[in-house]
Order: sequence, then C-alpha cells, then structure tokens
Amino acid sequence: MTTDVVIVGAGGMGREMFGVIRLLDAHAVGAQPWRVLGFVDDYPTEENVARVRRLGVPFLGPTRWLADGPAGLTVALGVGHPRLRRETDRALARYGLPAATVVHPAAEIGPDCVFGEGLFAAGGARVTTNVVLGRQVHLNQNCTVGHDSVLGDHVSVNPLAAVSGYCRLDDGVMVGTTAAVLPGLRVGRDAVVGAGACVTRDVPAGTVVTGVPARPVAPGSAADARPVVVPAHGRQDEVDHPA
Ligand SMILES: CC(C)(COP(=O)(O)OP(=O)(O)OC[C@H]1O[C@@H](n2cnc3c(N)ncnc32)[C@H](O)[C@@H]1OP(=O)(O)O)[C@@H](O)C(=O)NCCC(=O)NCCS
Repeated sequence: MTTDVVIVGAGGMGREMFGVIRLLDAHAVGAQPWRVLGFVDDYPTEENVARVRRLGVPFLGPTRWLADGPAGLTVALGVGHPRLRRETDRALARYGLPAATVVHPAAEIGPDCVFGEGLFAAGGARVTTNVVLGRQVHLNQNCTVGHDSVLGDHVSVNPLAAVSGYCRLDDGVMVGTTAAVLPGLRVGRDAVVGAGACVTRDVPAGTVVTGVPARPVAPGSAADARPVVVPAHGRQDEVDHPA
C-alpha cells in the first residue's frame, strides 16, 4: 500500500512539507511508501507554480480538484499562518479526506505525547514528554516543546523557538522564530509571539507581543494581528507565509 498525498498550498510551507515527505518515502524501507500526487492551491502565484514544477511534481489546480481525487487520498495542509490554516482546514472539511501526519525522520516526539490529525514536525523539532498537541499543529525546524505543555489546534512554533514545560498555547497561536516562552505560561487564542521575543507573563488572546521581555505592540501596528479573511473556496493572497 502507498500513501497518496496531495499538498494544499504551493507556498514555502507546502514545499517544505514536500521535502519532508520525500525523505519519509526514502526511509520507508519495508514500510508504507509515500507518493505525492501534486499540489493544489486556490490562489497560487505564478512563481510558486513554477517552483512546484521545479520539484518534479504537478500543480493540480484549485482545491476542488480534491473532490474527484483517487480513493484513499490524504491531504497535507501546507499553510503556515495559523489562522489561515484554520480557515483552510475548515474549508477542506467538505471533502472528508484524512490529514497526513508528516514527521521528519530527525524530529523527536517523546513518550506519552499525543497529537491530533495533521501534525507537521520538521527536522530537528523536539517534543519531550507528556505533551498534548492539537489538530494541524506545525512544529518547524529545530523548535522545542517542553514537558507537560498543551498546544491547541492550528498552533505554529517557528524555527528555533523554545516552548518551556507546563506551557499552554491556545488555538491559533504563532510563536515566532527564536522566541522563548518561559515555564508554565499561557498564550491566548490567536496571539502572536514575535520573532526573538521572551515571554515572561501570560499573553492575552489576540495580542501581538515582541521584545525581551515580551510586551504587547500597539494595537493595529502588526500585520499578523489583523484578521485573515478567507473566501469560501480558498485563501486570499494577503498571506503567503513560509511558516
Ligand atoms: C512581530 C511581528 C508579528 C510584527 O509583524 P509586522 O506588523 O508585519 O511588523 P513590521 O515589519 O511592520 O514592523 C513593525 C515594527 O515592529 C518592529 N518589529 C517587527 N518584528 C519585531 C520583533 N519580532 N521584535 C521586535 N520588533 C519587531 C519593526 O522593527 C517595526 O519597528 P519600527 O516601526 O520602529 O520600524 C513579526 O515581525 C514577527 O516577528 N513575526 C514572526 C514571524 C516568524 O517567526 N517567521 C518565521 C518564518 S519561518
């Protein structure tokens, strides 16, 4: 049996997922091989379609391609921005396809960790022990998630970020690259921790924090804090986020 995958999102995140799936296939000796049928995207840029083709796989068209895809298909949701990923995930529910769990061979998920459908863990991502990860969580290169932490649905932990033990990241949180969240803190729904920030206090829902120690930025001053509006059949161009 082969796992047939279609990657949703021709942007950087989707193409990084492709690289990991290709590695998984190379490691699938005696196990189930993976086959990427191609990419779908409702609002691809010409550049991204060209980049997909340079990977040697087809660009299949908009997400409605999934309605008539072959039986047994799984979907890898390669949308980096948490809120956009949530909306795309909801829009894809109409197709009733299972989400692929894509864990790089050099990622580490420790004992008694549980995760929801669609987990993506890039190379070097480390989840230690007794951690709960929600649906469609993305753990990017070399990030760490400490013991007893709970991450909600559609959370992204970006490259080299460190989430300490006993933390709680609510649904849709993004922890920026190289940021740290100190032990036991809670980051509220859809909050953004800016790159390089050190979170020393709980972060309220919907807040963007930056700096060391992390402090909220002035309301409306951060693009990532703006709501993401996704059309019924796909995603808008505003965010084509690599992770
Ligand atoms: C914090 C963040 C959400 C702000 O986004 P934004 O509103 O688009 O930010 P802008 O680029 O318009 O910058 C606004 C101001 O905040 C500053 N700023 C931006 N990000 C900052 C950060 N992480 N720490 C400190 N200051 C930051 C800018 O220097 C700028 O200051 P100025 O007005 O004095 O020139 C974003 O910069 C960030 O850190 N995102 C994380 C992204 C990430 O991890 N990507 C990894 C992809 S793999």
